[in-house]
Amino acid sequence: MLELANKRIVLGLTGGVACYKLAEFVRRAQDQGAVIDVVMTEAATHFITPVTMQALSGRPVFVDAWDPRVPNNMAHINLTRGADAILVAPASTDFIAKLAHGHANDLLSTLCVAKGTCPLLVAPAMNREMWLHPATQRNVTQLQADGALILGPAEGNQACGEVGSGRMLEAHELLAELIAFFQPKTLSGRRVLITAGPTSEKIDPVRVLTNRSSGKMGYAIAQAAREAGAQVVLVSGPTALDTPYGVNRVDVESAAQMHAAVMSEARHSDIFIAVAAVADWHVANASDSKLKKNPDGKAPDLQFSVNPDILADVAGMADGPYCVGFAAETENLHQNAEAKRQRKGVPLLVGNLAQQAMNADTTELVLFSQQGSQKLPVLPKLDAARRLVQEVARQSSARPR
Ligand code: C5P
Repeated sequence: MLELANKRIVLGLTGGVACYKLAEFVRRAQDQGAVIDVVMTEAATHFITPVTMQALSGRPVFVDAWDPRVPNNMAHINLTRGADAILVAPASTDFIAKLAHGHANDLLSTLCVAKGTCPLLVAPAMNREMWLHPATQRNVTQLQADGALILGPAEGNQACGEVGSGRMLEAHELLAELIAFFQPKTLSGRRVLITAGPTSEKIDPVRVLTNRSSGKMGYAIAQAAREAGAQVVLVSGPTALDTPYGVNRVDVESAAQMHAAVMSEARHSDIFIAVAAVADWHVANASDSKLKKNPDGKAPDLQFSVNPDILADVAGMADGPYCVGFAAETENLHQNAEAKRQRKGVPLLVGNLAQQAMNADTTELVLFSQQGSQKLPVLPKLDAARRLVQEVARQSSARPR
């Protein structure tokens, strides 16, 4: 699925070394179906050429308000009408000041004043002292009050050799922000705690007991919740997946570690979504040295203890978060999932067929609540996650606390 299909974005470049990141951004945004119209300030052309941006975007690039290619000199109007968003990246100190004060003395600044209701996203890029300067901070506050969305900046090494806040986001981060911008903000300001992936239970220093969960569903839900405006903590067992942009990830291995991490986060969370495939048992007599093959050919005598049920423990907390469970069943999905919902004491339980969902990129979710069940179509996991997040937002806000 193309995340930016039918979206036309006006991309405004102003002067800054970070201009090079926008070449990559244009390609990635196009891969997601976006049409990008690039507008550059004169200063930006000192860092990257209009020829490069034109070749990458496949569309005319505008710098001059008096461009002879626009016969009526109305580029500032033509470009913004029907656009889905204006993204100014990199946004220099000077351009932010111009935006905050409504200056209109080149094509890009004029266009930003003439934009009407078209949303404005601004990705600052500057030296840390310039970012921290009270005038810049005042201007950014003013821009936010005027409805602009400020993306970043990040902290780190700067082109000038200093280290601090003011780095522009990377191309993939800008893209994640743009995609998120178009998602409904149903979890704005809410704190969502999610478990994902398998757990790994130690047998000895080189052997573990684990399962085939990939973590894809939990990670997709973490991304969808963050896109919906939530602050997300993802407690993850071992997976090969990248952390979704903007999500705070806590790595654990065993069920006991996952339990401890979740219990310390849960009291600060509004919503808990337990997606992890937690091992039911751990090895009670795990060895600190590698188990040797028995000369008599016998298998080692492993003893198992039951792991804590993380979801049930959170669901049992007085004044705890709204809890959502998962059930991967191999048969009798409806009976098993509804029975599990009641046993765990959670208002919402999401069922799917393990043989279809494990390690797959698509899933067919069935949502079980006190009101009955609701089946979603077969969807890519991110789309299913977005649908689920909307439902969780709706049901959790209806619940009395
Ligand atoms: O009991 P069962 O493993 O079938 O329940 C699945 C649900 O409970 C999932 O939401 C899973 O993340 C959660 N769970 C848990 N702690 C366990 C076992 C399962 O949080 N020890």
